[in-house]
Amino acid sequence: MSAPRKLHIKSYGCQMNVYDAQRMVDTLAPEGFIETADAADADLVILNTCHIREKASEKVYSELGRLREAKDEAARHGRKVTIAVAGCVAQAEGAEIIRRAPVVDVVVGPQSYHHLPQLLARARQEGRALETEFPEDDKFNFLPAPKPAAIRARGVSSFVTVQEGCDKFCTFCVVPYTRGMETSRPVERIIDDVMRLADNGVREITLIGQNVNAFHGDGPDGTTWSLGRLLHRLAAIPGIARLRYSTSHPRDVDDSLIAAHRDLPEVMPFVHLPVQSGSDRILAAMNRKHTADDYRRVIDRFRSVSEDIAFSSDFIVGFPGETEEDFRATLALVTQIGYAGAYSFKYSPRPGTPAADMQEMVATAVMDERLARLQNLIDSQQSAFNKAAVGRTVDVLFERAARNEGQIVGRTAYLQPAHVMASPDIIGQVLPVRIDSLERYSLLGTIATPAAAARNAPPLTATATTGA
Ligand code: SAH
Ligand code: SF4
Ligand code: F3S
Repeated sequence: MSAPRKLHIKSYGCQMNVYDAQRMVDTLAPEGFIETADAADADLVILNTCHIREKASEKVYSELGRLREAKDEAARHGRKVTIAVAGCVAQAEGAEIIRRAPVVDVVVGPQSYHHLPQLLARARQEGRALETEFPEDDKFNFLPAPKPAAIRARGVSSFVTVQEGCDKFCTFCVVPYTRGMETSRPVERIIDDVMRLADNGVREITLIGQNVNAFHGDGPDGTTWSLGRLLHRLAAIPGIARLRYSTSHPRDVDDSLIAAHRDLPEVMPFVHLPVQSGSDRILAAMNRKHTADDYRRVIDRFRSVSEDIAFSSDFIVGFPGETEEDFRATLALVTQIGYAGAYSFKYSPRPGTPAADMQEMVATAVMDERLARLQNLIDSQQSAFNKAAVGRTVDVLFERAARNEGQIVGRTAYLQPAHVMASPDIIGQVLPVRIDSLERYSLLGTIATPAAAARNAPPLTATATTGA
């Protein structure tokens, strides 16, 4: 057998790209590829791109510039390096990439990753290969499952795609064009994946999808299952300690999902629920199909079943036509909800989306100023939330050795990193930790005895702060 070829994947964007990168590695493993963390050492470099905001695709072209030099240098030493572009920029701008970047050998859209071996062969024969049509065959039926050794190397927490694509067409967003129509995977396939992961040491599963709670997979009983029902089933799989899901949409929160939070200790009380804006006028222009009050009511439904539940969100500032009054409505919503954290972005017009044709652009300076005000408010909420953990005993799932000698790092239910001095034997375990202090975003603590854990402090809720 020939020497293994080396593969390096650089992923941008969302969790689905991280998951897809692993699927690409698993697809290319039978072709003799092994993964390397060093791009300079690779025979095949895949850029797994994101198209969500302007800078995302600019980054791809500047990265391709650097790769061209590396490829030329390798060629001078008689070594051929193949460059592939995958992900959402590949899907949206595949033909342009081929035109603009001769360094690229293969362009592959997110629905065609199972065709990667054939595309590489085609590029070898014909020089270059492009596939961005949505194929007839469903990639999930062909992507190979990861090998036990690969699962173990990836750690105790794993993503599993259950839903992909989006039919919601928010006016600012490229996802419906890059990931295609919303589809859900069959329940049995997901159960098989989670059982295989659990058998190989995975303790935490994050179910992912562009609108993960729009999940409506074919169940083994011939009915269509909701995300809530799926969570109930997965919680019963031995070894699975924690379940999460992301990203959810406020319009798709049904009673079964709320019930999962009420009934299943495995379902973590931390929900990423993007709202984008607190202004009904802007929400309508964004085609979100919900009002700020609809969103508040969804939050209340979660809170009514779980008092320790916390939320994070996404916001866009400077959507076309956004006035100071609209923006204040966003600040008011954030103040009222009280987040454990949130992402906020300046609006970026995306080619081909309806909002890109809207006339009333908000000036960049105004966007910058609004972004800073919103981020200040969110930061103050996040640090209040993190500070509230100090002095409490909380459950931590331990993931790996930390950079500091002797320390092991894990995460709380709210994804806060928590460090303790302990033996690496605790990796993979959920243990009560008494939180002694907070350093930046990290909690420092000591493992508590079960008795101390039983005297657990009152529930942790996000403290709303005013300001901005
Ligand atoms: N499916 C998720 C969001 C996916 S995109 C949802 O519906 O909530 C992740 C985030 O990127 C979005 O929540 C939004 O805040 C941001 N985003 C998307 N398009 C954007 C654009 N054109 N400009 C700025 N931010 C954008
Ligand atoms: Fe984009 Fe809206 Fe779909 Fe989210 S719901 S992926 S923001 S179109
Ligand atoms: Fe980016 Fe595509 Fe994810 S545009 S955010 S990589 S779905």
